[in-house]
Amino acid sequence: MNKRNEDLIILGIESSCDDTSAAVLKNHTILSNRSAGQKVHEQYGGVVPELASRAHQQHMVPVVHAALSDAGVGLNEVDAIAVTAGPGLLGSLLVGVNFAKSLALATGKPLLSVNHMEGHILAHLIENNQYPVALRFPFLCLTVSGGHTQLVRVDSPLEMTVIGETIDDAAGEAFDKAAKILGLPYPGGPLVDKYGREGNPLTYSFPEPKMPDLQFSFSGLKTSFLYFVEKQRAADPLFAEKERNNLCASIQHAIVGFLLKKVRLAAQQEGIKQIAIAGGVSANSYLRDSLSAMALREGWDVFLPRFEYCTDNAAMIAMAGLYQYKKGVFAGQDLAPTARMKI
Ligand code: KG4
Ligand code: ZN
Repeated sequence: MNKRNEDLIILGIESSCDDTSAAVLKNHTILSNRSAGQKVHEQYGGVVPELASRAHQQHMVPVVHAALSDAGVGLNEVDAIAVTAGPGLLGSLLVGVNFAKSLALATGKPLLSVNHMEGHILAHLIENNQYPVALRFPFLCLTVSGGHTQLVRVDSPLEMTVIGETIDDAAGEAFDKAAKILGLPYPGGPLVDKYGREGNPLTYSFPEPKMPDLQFSFSGLKTSFLYFVEKQRAADPLFAEKERNNLCASIQHAIVGFLLKKVRLAAQQEGIKQIAIAGGVSANSYLRDSLSAMALREGWDVFLPRFEYCTDNAAMIAMAGLYQYKKGVFAGQDLAPTARMKI
């Protein structure tokens, strides 16, 4: 089953939250990466799991077709099918896993089970990123998404250790909740980024969470932001609208400042100067700029993934699948998704 010294083509499938994605990878190069988002959740201010599963069912076949056709690759040329098995919303994961299992059964292709968070990190090994400096092991990865905030020491594609994580909200949630407080639609992270670029990050200050070692916490920051905005609104009901840009810039400054403080501590502790970021929040321009500035001061090499590999995508799942394939770790028809899967 295991091919050696030949081109490997992996079809990746991702459906852990609200994006249905499929991608085709040839060795370390992405040939296609297609996604269908789900607008249906906007009106509810967050992802509604049942609606997400139904939308995945509708999108899966067309998205996989589109990815194969963009890549100019026939299903018969695919060497293996990689699918996200967790962590994520169980109903959403079930759609991807069952589809991938059926496709594997029908085509006789091997199946690869991928951990979504490992996928975010291994997106750095996709050659399309075209990093000016080659990424070497070990590196540190700050993984910041809607459900996770982790500092991970990566010793090889298959050896990762979580050295720090959040005890409550994830960084992405902190962005989304701040946006909600300001009356912005879900997901608010990209909007806080957009409006924050127009504001002054030093207009308002919020207390930095006091957490030991490499632990994160964002719930206190969210509460102080909520109380502050509510108090100002009581005096001027249009306060949040008038001050939107400065509020976005200031809360972003607080979240990013806290994240980077822990990154610096982790780098010192581990003696590592290769620093990467991954997950949806790694698309944030203030985080990218601030990390780059910190890297200059600290003498680090930083690795900022291309935007299409930051938020949920199947390219990263195919990339992680390739390493499972090389290791010879295949999943069977008994593969079942796991909502809470650890790295
Ligand atoms: O990795 P991801 O796409 O999905 C999960 O695995 O959770 O991350 C989604 C999170 C959301 O909370 C979203 O608001 C946030 O990433 N996000 C951003 C930006 N783009 C996405 N947060 C801040 N700035 C952005 N530009
Ligand atoms: Zn994700």
